[in-house]
Amino acid sequence: MTDLIDQKQAALAAIDASTSIDALEEQRVAALGKKGWVSLALKTLGQMSPEERKEAAPAIQAVRGEVAGAIDAKKAELEAAALEAQLASETIDLTLPAPDQPKGSIHPVSQVMDELAEIFADLGFSVATGPEIEDDWHNFTALNMDESHPARAMHDTFYFPDKAADGAASSSEAVGQQKRMLLRTHTSPVQIRSMKDEGAPVRLIAPGRVYRSDSDATHTPMFHQVEGLVVDEDIHLGHLKWTLETFFKAFFEREDIVLRLRPSYFPFTEPSVEVDVGYSNEGAGKEGGRRVVGGHGDAPGHDWMELGGSGMVNRRVLEFAGIDADKYQGFAFGLGIDRIAMLKYGMNDLRAFFDGDPRWLNHYGFSPYDQPTLSAGVGVRP
Ligand code: PHE
Repeated sequence: MTDLIDQKQAALAAIDASTSIDALEEQRVAALGKKGWVSLALKTLGQMSPEERKEAAPAIQAVRGEVAGAIDAKKAELEAAALEAQLASETIDLTLPAPDQPKGSIHPVSQVMDELAEIFADLGFSVATGPEIEDDWHNFTALNMDESHPARAMHDTFYFPDKAADGAASSSEAVGQQKRMLLRTHTSPVQIRSMKDEGAPVRLIAPGRVYRSDSDATHTPMFHQVEGLVVDEDIHLGHLKWTLETFFKAFFEREDIVLRLRPSYFPFTEPSVEVDVGYSNEGAGKEGGRRVVGGHGDAPGHDWMELGGSGMVNRRVLEFAGIDADKYQGFAFGLGIDRIAMLKYGMNDLRAFFDGDPRWLNHYGFSPYDQPTLSAGVGVRP
């Protein structure tokens, strides 16, 4: 018995002196392992008389408990110390500059959308969105393009396989047609959705992706538009012209922008005008730099670039959207975001916008810190 007490004292001292988890593990094996002295002591119980055992068993178990407890306590202590040491060695100084690692950049389209939101917010416009998977009614019918309207053919629409065939909508062909799903061909359906949801007055822009089955150097099957819509009492064409001019001056950050409004036709506006801006075609082909210039597109080295369509909202459209067309009028415009980005930042191939080439993104992309603001400038280069 005295042996056991001595062994215990020695073990407790060794456990206490252990400086690593490994050293402690050695102590555990020496005492509590299969061939450890505690285990061997327990084995001697079998040869004892019942009286001896009655006395020895609790004593050995007590030693075992004490040793095991000491090991657990020491283990917790060593682990806590190891964690402390690790935390101490891994401190980072958040005031140091970030390590030089490949950085992502903000795509020019995203940057231009932020610029748009910033400029139009200052004019009291909110930003609206709508679904890219749209139904026929919102994309066409409510915009005064019924089934037979020839303007539909100009949209090169991507349709989804017709649902009417599966029986659900086949009871009424008209309903099936209205619900026919497509990829929206313009952002104009957001006009309808917003007016239906919020009524008049309205003052919003709606930037987003649109889709047409078309592809060459200046057309991609997916591109971006921003819709503008203002509906109120006494809105007239002068408001549209002022708004576009004010926007483009802020966007291109120059006062001498010249816009040309050409009479045109859209089923959802009456009258309709197309919007052109004068730009320099001499820099074409060269990388970088702004190409919008002051003065006429008719001057030497200048040309006109078509940026989008606009007009006074056709009263049929107001009626489709549930707005009292005797009380309210509105104007709307739809501009190509990719085009105005190209003009502002000097790219000349639209397809490169969507290639995802890191070199292009590195060159034309923006730092996330370049938040466009009216006070700091809406178009800071990285
Ligand atoms: N939705 C038209 C297009 O994509 C542009 C437009 C919008 C024209 C609003 C007039 C008014 O071509």
